[in-house]
Amino acid sequence: MSKAIEVKNLQVSFPTPNGYSAVVRGIDLTIKPGERIAIVGESGSGKTMLGLSMLGIQPSSAKVTGEVIIGDVDMVSANDATARKLRGNYISMVFQEPLTSLNPVRTISSQLSESVRRHNKMSKAEAEDRVLEILTSVGIPAPKERMKSYPHQLSGGLRQRVMIALALINKPALVVADEPTTALDATIQAQILDLLRSGMGDAALMLITHDLAVAADVCNRIVVMYAGNIVEQGPVAEILGNPRHPYTRGLLNAIPKFDKARPPLMPIPGSPPTITEVVSGCRFASRCSYADSQCTASEPKFVDNLACFHPVVGVSQ
Ligand SMILES: Nc1ncnc2c1ncn2[C@@H]1O[C@H](COP(=O)(O)OP(=O)(O)OP(=O)(O)O)[C@@H](O)[C@H]1O
Ligand code: SF4
Ligand SMILES: [Mg+2]
Repeated sequence: MSKAIEVKNLQVSFPTPNGYSAVVRGIDLTIKPGERIAIVGESGSGKTMLGLSMLGIQPSSAKVTGEVIIGDVDMVSANDATARKLRGNYISMVFQEPLTSLNPVRTISSQLSESVRRHNKMSKAEAEDRVLEILTSVGIPAPKERMKSYPHQLSGGLRQRVMIALALINKPALVVADEPTTALDATIQAQILDLLRSGMGDAALMLITHDLAVAADVCNRIVVMYAGNIVEQGPVAEILGNPRHPYTRGLLNAIPKFDKARPPLMPIPGSPPTITEVVSGCRFASRCSYADSQCTASEPKFVDNLACFHPVVGVSQ
């Protein structure tokens, strides 16, 4: 599919004792064909809810409004049958722990071929050829033998490769990968990141991660989320070299530096607002050293890829 995926004013809310409260607060995002974007932000910033709601698989208690345009269909208002058809075919997801998504009592081959045949008119033999092709392309060694394995017979790294194969098998326009390497050890992590960087074929990638270094390593564009909002976005070089939002700067400073001449790890003090907290003005103000009365009087709009009244200028440390 050559069209971009467009997220328009997407809002995800959960019920609280004081009514619905938004954890994704009106997000606009365009993902171009083949692009690799990273969604970064601290725990609780709404990254997973953004991803899940784009596929229409958010928790049942969540209320979702806005649009997610895939092809000619809006995923938010689509009926269940249409949404199911789009999932896998146009948009798919890779989770942190593949064992939660793979069926433990069925072989890799039967799970992958079922997914191909659900979306395409194919004979069993043709589907198995496609399974072999995709397992080879995601770097599964001896794929013919592995096809007969059950998920628990594979290592964590191989299971994640199978999960990525499952996400790619129907040639979707976009794969959303939510912390896909967090559960893996460092060497395997690097291999999977390599696969996400260069093994996705024509699919665009939306990589959800709390790790700015991983985002920079794999993606072309970084989108920074804070407390349900996008606060800054831009090409990797710009975000790393000239972060304008104080929060982005804080995230960068929190990356451990191996070069001893650089300042030590500086996690951002304080914590984001909770789901029930009512905040007036900028949601980062209580943690921001640049905050002034304008910041607490009203919320900055997202303009020119930034939501901040007082962008930071100068080279990042
Ligand atoms: N089922 C739910 N009911 C109520 N609130 C929820 C539910 N699921 C998530 N939330 C809230 O939504 C907010 C966003 O959660 P989300 O999981 O999207 O964050 P995240 O950025 O993915 O964090 P992490 O990095 O820890 O995965 C959090 O405040 C969370 O507590
Ligand atoms: S708007 Fe104000 S409080 Fe918010 S990030 Fe910018 S300077 Fe800080
Ligand atoms: Mg998450």
